[in-house]
Amino acid sequence: MSMDMQKLWLREVTVNDGPEGLRFLKDIVNEEGIMVAPAPKDIDASSFPKWLQAKADTAKGLNMPEGFVPCTTYWVMLGEKIIGLANIKHELNDFLRKKGGHIGLSLAKEYRGRGVGFATAKLLIERARTEFGIGDILMTNEPENIASRKLCEKLGAELTDIDEHCHYWIRK
Ligand SMILES: CC(C)(COP(=O)(O)OP(=O)(O)OC[C@H]1O[C@@H](n2cnc3c(N)ncnc32)[C@H](O)[C@@H]1OP(=O)(O)O)[C@@H](O)C(=O)NCCC(=O)NCCS
Repeated sequence: MSMDMQKLWLREVTVNDGPEGLRFLKDIVNEEGIMVAPAPKDIDASSFPKWLQAKADTAKGLNMPEGFVPCTTYWVMLGEKIIGLANIKHELNDFLRKKGGHIGLSLAKEYRGRGVGFATAKLLIERARTEFGIGDILMTNEPENIASRKLCEKLGAELTDIDEHCHYWIRK
């Protein structure tokens, strides 16, 4: 399957999102857990509306748990199909500076390793700059997450340090 990167776009998560989003989350969290997609493993039709509401609220900086910063969550879309989940934290705090950074991105397995991550990261970087006024953008990953690290390197990010996580900065 060849990939038309022109069809890639970011669709902000809203309270009105339908069952396709739930199916995507279920598949990805059941297979790989919360580190890959920030949703509970047992997410189902009854808890999905709450998840959507929490994401929509957090994008507006409302009703956030202690220590959270405003963060916008997006479905990664290929045409009209959901193929991933991404987010942009509008600012960093001490926690995110260690782990999390500004940008998070997870693609469905069958779309990995084909350049989609790179193209999506470009869209996220542009949004971070134009919509949230973020200059230098931090991405973190676990040292053994080769795909994520290579993605950062391909983006031209600067690796400033490695402790439990690698810290890559995409400079303005
Ligand atoms: C990390 C992730 C978003 C990267 O997106 P992707 O579409 O797989 O990456 P791309 O195809 O755009 O590739 C980017 C670079 O990484 C390399 N790469 C991708 N997957 C790789 C793998 N499994 N092993 C080694 N290198 C890999 C590519 O070769 C490319 O570098 P190159 O052009 O120099 O060859 C994706 O793999 C993913 O969703 N992983 C699971 C979730 C996750 O780990 N998210 C990051 C948490 S910080």
